Amino acid sequence: MASARGEFSSRFGFLMAASGSAVGLGNIWGFPTNTASNGGAAFLFTYLVLAFVLAYPALMAELIIGRHARSNAITALKSISTGPKSQLLAVIVGVAGMITVSFILSFYAIVSGWMIAFFIDPLARILGMSDLSLWLTSDTEIRNSLFVLIFMSLTVYIISAGVKDGIEKWASRLMPSLVGILLLLILYVFTLPGAMDGLRAYLVPDFSRFADPQLLINAMGQAFFSLSLGVGTMLVYGSYINKEENLPVVGSLVALLDIGIAVLAGLLILPAMYVALASGVEIFDEAGGLIAGPGLIVSVLPALFNSMGVIGVFVALAFFALMTIASLTSSISMLEVPVAYAVENRGMGRNKAAVLIGGVISCISLLIVFNFDPLFDLVAGFTTERSQPLLSLFICVFAAWIWSRDGVLAEIKHGSAEADQGLFWKIWPFYVKFICPLAILVVYFQ
Ligand code: PFF
Repeated sequence: MASARGEFSSRFGFLMAASGSAVGLGNIWGFPTNTASNGGAAFLFTYLVLAFVLAYPALMAELIIGRHARSNAITALKSISTGPKSQLLAVIVGVAGMITVSFILSFYAIVSGWMIAFFIDPLARILGMSDLSLWLTSDTEIRNSLFVLIFMSLTVYIISAGVKDGIEKWASRLMPSLVGILLLLILYVFTLPGAMDGLRAYLVPDFSRFADPQLLINAMGQAFFSLSLGVGTMLVYGSYINKEENLPVVGSLVALLDIGIAVLAGLLILPAMYVALASGVEIFDEAGGLIAGPGLIVSVLPALFNSMGVIGVFVALAFFALMTIASLTSSISMLEVPVAYAVENRGMGRNKAAVLIGGVISCISLLIVFNFDPLFDLVAGFTTERSQPLLSLFICVFAAWIWSRDGVLAEIKHGSAEADQGLFWKIWPFYVKFICPLAILVVYFQ
């Protein structure tokens, strides 16, 4: 079976795929707004520490287990289990991860659908189709349903093509474009009046917030969501890395890319919001905080683009292209988790599995679209705040408490023969064994 599995063809391919999974709406929307509402650089600093100290070790646990087992999450966790109890736990954690990631995709697809609609809107306006433009930007169930289906079809299309010809090929095209668009947008926004106020809101720390437990909870949630942890995504991507690759190095590159792009996104979103303020757009909500929810993306920023005249059309196109790309490279990694399981453990063809599972997830998305108020926050909150950190904790338990230390080291040594002499091996085992589970528990029960 192993030979039938896909594999990333190069380090670049893996880096693009894994950072594509990590870099998503969480980086470009979640991180900047979280930073602005949690004391600016106080949040940024806490986030950086948590990302390196907690999220990176947890990411490594997934990559190492995945590459060792060369299989989907359930089989991988079972393969490092040592008795019937840990086997059972492996199945529970694997299945829970698969269900969680499917529900994450179901709400993610709705938001991603908005991004496609807002991407088409400037084109409609260029062509003078104002009715279409109005329809694209109005929050209706029919628009949301249609764009969920379009977004999910793109996701299914890429996943059907396999690891190398689907995930790697598309991530390698889309991720460099994402970085290019992001940099161009930052440079442009920096030339506009008000941008420096935004920069100040982003980078000047409010030290009083350091002691705020909510800041810690938000920063940890953001770090785990952003690195796509706990639900098997990184484990499955790890299973496609070739045995000669140096895991601690590629893992740290993924973390750096994810964090770097989040920090860059902050340099775009906050200055853009203050540019909007300078041109008369309201950016604060009734409670006096910055508008951070959907209003930011679907009303504040579009109002800013509209106020820019002709150039605003191109800026809007670039911005929503950026958001769509970020969403798509993340959604494919989510769909890959259940698809890999269906292909490997249920003997299903990849194409059939992608269409079938993508279809079921689309149905859940539609259910949320038609019951948005009661369901959206419930699904998003439960999966990302409750399920994801807890599952991540269990994966750390597997890597550090259940799997043998020798087994872990042997796997790392495949791509770096002197791993046992290096800094990584001196620190990491202790971290995944004690610090990560404890920290996750503490923040979880806050
Ligand atoms: N990391 C993605 C983001 O920051 O938007 C979200 C995500 C992707 C979460 C993949 C979970 C996942 F499995």
